[in-house]
Amino acid sequence: MSDIQRLLANNRAWSASIRERDPEFFPKLARQQRPSFLWIGCADSRVPANEIVGLLPGEMFVHRNIANVVAHSDLNCLSVLQYAIDVLQVRHVIVCGHYGCSGVRAVVEGRRVGLADNWLRHVEDVWERHDAAVSAAPTLDAKVDRLCECNVVAQAANVARTTVARDAWARGQPLAVHGWIYGLGDGLVRDLGVTVDQAAGT
Ligand code: CO
Repeated sequence: MSDIQRLLANNRAWSASIRERDPEFFPKLARQQRPSFLWIGCADSRVPANEIVGLLPGEMFVHRNIANVVAHSDLNCLSVLQYAIDVLQVRHVIVCGHYGCSGVRAVVEGRRVGLADNWLRHVEDVWERHDAAVSAAPTLDAKVDRLCECNVVAQAANVARTTVARDAWARGQPLAVHGWIYGLGDGLVRDLGVTVDQAAGT
């Protein structure tokens, strides 16, 4: 069986097992989605959003890019954020990075990877702002992990500074923005304790 045929066979088995447990599962989802969470994570294949937090289809809206960046000029990310908050009315936005992120590592090593170098300038900007914390880490791996953490904190703060989040808070809509980091080595998520649930200065 080819790699691609394997995926299609897996899909048929997955669909059958869910329908066996709950024949109404897919028809219900087809009518509407009502997720409570928006996940903004890294595109890394080792960090599958729904799977690591045990959520089924329909329970989490997901946006992923290299190094879980939230850039104020990124229409793609902003559109996902606006739709999730304004239309789907998610209660939580989770920015989840991960230790050992290849994008963050490329920045720390000053290594060129191609077009993505330009995207990763956003992570380099975070490094510049948090150079003391990153440089204090004793090894290259530790510097990468420190910058992974700083990047999550910075990108979660970027979510909280969007007009989308600010407008939601201004109209009294419940919304919390969280910064998490995932360990590739143990499969565990750590909360970085930077949750924001109201506009700065209110
Ligand atoms: Co990554």
